[in-house]
Amino acid sequence: MNQEIIKYARENNLIITEKALRLLNNYNYKKIIEKLKGKEILFVKENDILKIQNEKNQKEENFEENFENNFIILDKYDITNKNYSQGSVEDFHKLFIDKYNTISQILKNRLNCEYTTIENAKNLIKNQKVDIIGMVYEKRMSKNENLILDVDDPTGRIKLVILNKDEEKFEKYKQTLTDNVLGFKCNVLSKDMLIVNEIIYPDIPLEKNKSTTTIDKYIAIIGDTHVGSKLFLEKEFAKFIDWINGENGQKEIIEKIKYLIIAGDLVDGVGIYPDQYDELAITDVFKQYELFEDYILKIRENIEIFIISGNHDAVRLSDPQPAIDKKYLPRLYTKKNIHIMGSPSWVIFDGLKTLMYHGASLHGIYAEIKGMQMDKPDLAMKEVLIRRDLMPQYGHRQTFVPIEKNLMTINEIPDIFITADVHHHAYSKYKNTHLICSSCWQSTTKYQIEKGHVPTIAKVLLFNLKDETLLIKDFEEDKNE
Ligand SMILES: [Fe+2]
Repeated sequence: MNQEIIKYARENNLIITEKALRLLNNYNYKKIIEKLKGKEILFVKENDILKIQNEKNQKEENFEENFENNFIILDKYDITNKNYSQGSVEDFHKLFIDKYNTISQILKNRLNCEYTTIENAKNLIKNQKVDIIGMVYEKRMSKNENLILDVDDPTGRIKLVILNKDEEKFEKYKQTLTDNVLGFKCNVLSKDMLIVNEIIYPDIPLEKNKSTTTIDKYIAIIGDTHVGSKLFLEKEFAKFIDWINGENGQKEIIEKIKYLIIAGDLVDGVGIYPDQYDELAITDVFKQYELFEDYILKIRENIEIFIISGNHDAVRLSDPQPAIDKKYLPRLYTKKNIHIMGSPSWVIFDGLKTLMYHGASLHGIYAEIKGMQMDKPDLAMKEVLIRRDLMPQYGHRQTFVPIEKNLMTINEIPDIFITADVHHHAYSKYKNTHLICSSCWQSTTKYQIEKGHVPTIAKVLLFNLKDETLLIKDFEEDKNE
C-alpha cells in the first residue's frame, strides 16, 4: 500500500516523509494528497496531514454514507475526571458501605426475600429461621472440616457455620471469598452464631437486552498491544491495520466493522516490573505512545474506537483506573471517533450493554478459586459476574482506590463483558452474557515462560451485534477459526 501512496504523491509532485506516510491509508490518501497539491510544498510532513485531517468534515469521509453508529457511553461508571479521596479510613469505609448497599439491593430485588439485619438476628431464639445479607470478613475451616465465615453488615458482625453435608454444595460454598457480599439463609444456633442452609449469590438474571440493529455490525476486540516491547508483534499488527482498512480483501466483513475496542496495555510502559528495561525496544514511554498513535491514526475514521487503560499504561495501577492522559495521546484526543476511557467502563452498542475492564483483579480469582487458570479467563469472568463485583477480594492481588462510589460493583447486567490482561483469548456465554477476553500482540515474555503460560497472539475477535455471534480473524498465520 505504501508504494502506491508514494507513487500517487510523486505523480502530484509531492514527497511524503516517513512519519507522514504512517498517517495515510487507502481510504484517505487520495483526498489528502488532492488537498496538499494546492499548498505549494514539496515535502509532506506529519503536521501537514494532521492540519488537513482536523479541517475535514467528518461526514464526507464516511466509509458507508448511510450508516449510523449507535452507541452511548455510560460516563457515570467511569472514574476519569471524578474526584476521589486521599485514602483516609473514612473513605475506605464509604467504599465498602457503597459496595454493601449496591449488592444487598441486588440480592433483595432478585429474590424478593425478607432479609433482616445482623443486629436483629442476634435477638432471635434458637432454631428460628433467619435470612441475612453479609460481607465476608474472615473465612476459615474448623477442626471438623466445616466452613466458618465471619460476616458483617452495617449493624454488626456474626459467625456463620456451613456444615460439610452436601459435597457438591460445600465445594461451591468453599469458593466464597473475603469481601463477597452474599445472602445467607440460616437457622439460629446461638446469639452469635447461625447455621447456613443456603448461600444466595447476587448473580445475573437470564433476561437480556435485545440488539437494536437489523444489519450485520461487528465490534472488533483487541487488547495488550504492548507497543515499545521488543516482543511487540509489529508485523502482525501492521497487517491487522491494513486489513481493517480493507487493503487485503474480506470486504464483506470489514465493511461491517463499526467499532473497535482496545482493552488496555496499549504500550509496554517503563519500570512496570524488574529488568523490564532490557526487554524494551523503546525506553521512553512518550515515544511508545507516539508509535501506538501512529498505528491507530492509520485506521479509517468511520470506525468508533474505544480505548481503556491497563496495568502497563501510564495511569495509576489501582482500580478503577482513569483514562490515559492527553499528554500521552495528544493526537488521538483530537479525534471525534476515538474515545479514551477508564477501566472499568460501560458502553451500550446498538442496545447491548457492554462492560469493559482490563482484568487485573481477576488474578485474585485465579489464585483463590479451585480450577481457575489464566488460559481460561472466561471462567474467572463468570465468577465476578456471579458476585456482581470486579473487586471480590480487597487488595489481595490488586489494590483499589477508596472512593465514595464503588465503581467496581457490576450495577448493570452486561450483555457483553470484555477483558484482556492474561494474553489469552477466550469466548463463552454465561446465561445470556457474552464473555470475551482478547488475545495479545506480544510474543511470550520471560515471565510467562517461567509461569508456563502460553499466550494466544495476533487474533482479532469480531462480535456481530445483530446475531450475537463471534468470529476470530487470526493474524498469526492468516487464518480464521
Ligand atoms: Fe498485557
